[in-house]
Amino acid sequence: MKTRKPHIILKLAMSADGYLDNEEPFLFSNEKDSTAVQKIRGEVDAILVGSNTLRNDDPSLLIKDPSIVIERVKKGLTPQPKRVVLCGASPLNPNAKLFNDGMAETIVFRSVNAKGDEFFTDLVKVKTYSSDRCRIDELCESIYQLGIRILLVEGGASLATQFIESGLVDSLRIAYSPKLIQNKRATKILTANSILASMHLHKIEYLNDMYAQTYRSNQTSTE
Ligand SMILES: NC(=O)c1ccc[n+]([C@@H]2O[C@H](COP(=O)([O-])OP(=O)(O)OC[C@H]3O[C@@H](n4cnc5c(N)ncnc54)[C@H](OP(=O)(O)O)[C@@H]3O)[C@@H](O)[C@H]2O)c1
Repeated sequence: MKTRKPHIILKLAMSADGYLDNEEPFLFSNEKDSTAVQKIRGEVDAILVGSNTLRNDDPSLLIKDPSIVIERVKKGLTPQPKRVVLCGASPLNPNAKLFNDGMAETIVFRSVNAKGDEFFTDLVKVKTYSSDRCRIDELCESIYQLGIRILLVEGGASLATQFIESGLVDSLRIAYSPKLIQNKRATKILTANSILASMHLHKIEYLNDMYAQTYRSNQTSTE
């Protein structure tokens, strides 16, 4: 049976030498790119990240531009997209911003074997799956069942790789920083080229010293 899934947008930022993260803090974005990303967040029902991104970056995953929030509400959307975290059985930081700021609904998908749910406040919904690893198609189906129809996947590398390999991505936006990381221990996505065979280049954005390419799946009929 075909997976019922949201429309999936995968967003990645890469250094000029193809890395996605670094041991030292690295700013992948510039102001124009951040504005463009805010607009993408404005269109989606939820944003998904992997648990290491939460541990390492502690993102809020919020829309900060009030005019985008107003436009969402006019369209009947929630002011902020829901925030979804995928984790296995490893512990999460209960002090992470998105578990405590009360700015948007936050949902954690975690293994039934994970411990520490008592740390979550009422602001956090926990959904469990039965093994230590969750299949991406099953995760997408569960996210769809929560009423989420457009999902933005914001990394990190492990999650992005699994989405690419799942073939479920409808739109892939890669923003390229002009800066080099030059650290062989940093992460690259090795499978990124293989996905492009089943996609076509839809748009290039020129963002001062950066640019971003958006690819669309050849299978996606919408938009
Ligand atoms: N350049 C970019 O576009 C970008 C975007 C976002 C983040 N990042 C960077 O990426 C780094 C983190 O990337 P990462 O690859 O280490 O981690 P990640 O993708 O953020 O998270 C990986 C973790 O998510 C959980 N997970 C992933 N797939 C799962 C599955 N199928 N079932 C159950 N749990 C699953 C596991 O959690 P457990 O550990 O709980 O088992 C796993 O350790 C951060 O340092 C961040 O700065 C880069």
